[in-house]
Amino acid sequence: MTAARINPSILAADFANFERELDRIKTADAAHVDIMDNHFVPNLTFGQPMVERLQEVSPIPLDLHLMIQDPDRWAPEFAELGVFSVTFHLEAATAPATLARSIRARGARAGVALRPGTPFNQIEELLEHFDQLLIMTVEPGFGGQKFMPETMPKLRQAREWARKHDSEIWLQVDGGVSEDTIGMALEAGADTFVAGSAVFKGEPAEEIAKLRAIAAQH
Ligand code: DX5
Ligand code: ZN
Repeated sequence: MTAARINPSILAADFANFERELDRIKTADAAHVDIMDNHFVPNLTFGQPMVERLQEVSPIPLDLHLMIQDPDRWAPEFAELGVFSVTFHLEAATAPATLARSIRARGARAGVALRPGTPFNQIEELLEHFDQLLIMTVEPGFGGQKFMPETMPKLRQAREWARKHDSEIWLQVDGGVSEDTIGMALEAGADTFVAGSAVFKGEPAEEIAKLRAIAAQH
């Protein structure tokens, strides 16, 4: 497996200083941007004009996590902005495979996310259409929640699927990832780690380096 990817979530950054905050995480693989619409989740964050501007100033690629209703309508528009990846929730999508194709056609990697309660078998048949799978390790909506170890069997199923199908799909975890929990997710097969509070609680570059160091030992 390639080296672990660390994607800090800017949900934990200073919202008045995104240009500076993105610069503070420039050693990371990508900046994870949580788009919430106050319907799919009870919280509200950024829309397209904000993403457009972040895309202009960011020194690293943008990894969008859409926690919104009707991604069939909106995900292609986000992909159009030139971002690195667009991940939508399976639970909200009507035609996931068509949507994946449309995201890819706009030049972004296509990702699909599962809430903690959504079983792997709901995506299994469609997984070949995607570049990355996001296994939520908390209920989506807020940063700073506790990592749910009970989601690890699902990650193992996904890793096993990738092995069997000789797939290069990236397996991402998001929520409560820290120095204490990253090992568990690595061991279960994750290769891409979203971390918000764990990165921004201290000096981001140092926290990113610590997470990488732990991952390298596994
Ligand atoms: C939660 C978001 C996460 C969040 C993670 O709905 O999808 O990306 O920012 O934050 P931490 O790492 O603090 O759990
Ligand atoms: Zn997220």
